[in-house]
Amino acid sequence: MTDLIEQTTTDGVRILRMNRPDKKNALTAAMYATLAEALAESDRDASIGARLILGVPGAFSAGNDINDFAAFAMKGGLGTEVLSFLRALAMAEKPIVGAADGIAVGVGTTMLLHCDHVILSSRTRLHTPFTNLGLVPEAGSSLIVPRMVGQVRAFELLVMGRPMAAEAAVAAGLANAVVSPEELEAAGLAAAKEIAAKPRQAVMLSRKLLRGDQDAILKRIDDEAQLFAERLRSTEAQTAFKAFLAKKG
Ligand code: COA
Repeated sequence: MTDLIEQTTTDGVRILRMNRPDKKNALTAAMYATLAEALAESDRDASIGARLILGVPGAFSAGNDINDFAAFAMKGGLGTEVLSFLRALAMAEKPIVGAADGIAVGVGTTMLLHCDHVILSSRTRLHTPFTNLGLVPEAGSSLIVPRMVGQVRAFELLVMGRPMAAEAAVAAGLANAVVSPEELEAAGLAAAKEIAAKPRQAVMLSRKLLRGDQDAILKRIDDEAQLFAERLRSTEAQTAFKAFLAKKG
């Protein structure tokens, strides 16, 4: 467990806040593990009806910690903590609301695909520069995004790595609404409370029907992870990580 994930509860909503502002909420292994456990635990907790995932002002998440990527390559694969989190997202039973402000890179974007209601601030851009890093999409995004937005927009986001502005994300069906940064957290909490106030079993069963074949998503997460592990060891990826880490001086 790490205190870089803050957990609070209000009116049946478990709020999970990624809180590593000095690193723009880049996710470490401990943060993934805590998020995974928090999702599983709040699924079991009868007092919880919905989860709300937040970042900090200006940074929802800068994605996987790139220092960890370099270390994963040595160990031969994505860490078990990363996979536990991705699987926990895919296996979640209670609704998840995502409210993102500012930077939403890599898994900072792909975790939103597993949310049931997504609100973005006007300065948020969804950005998945996997190929720039010599990597491939993760979190089941290669299956989910083409279904949600069609092949050509999925290619633009996931393969060309072009950032998608908040308004475009709503137009494409990846988010529900755009609000000002100041309004974001209240809007996310209001949506989560609205969901939590509804009859729990009816919401959970309906959500399951809408989300479709969980096994297919879990299989895609594993298939992507295998390729991802190979790519982490590639010269393309190693060169990109070195360039990022060298920029820090
Ligand atoms: N992994 C590790 N550290 C990261 C990080 C990441 N993914 N993203 C940001 N950081 C660190 C920076 O190294 C910097 O640390 P320092 O202050 O010790 O030098 C700090 O967070 C602030 O980031 P900085 O780059 O100065 O902020 P910025 O506002 O200029 O740029 C980003 C923000 C997110 C655009 C930029 O940090 C970036 O491109 N990060 C990498 C994103 C990425 O490729 N993630 C993986 C996707 S698969």
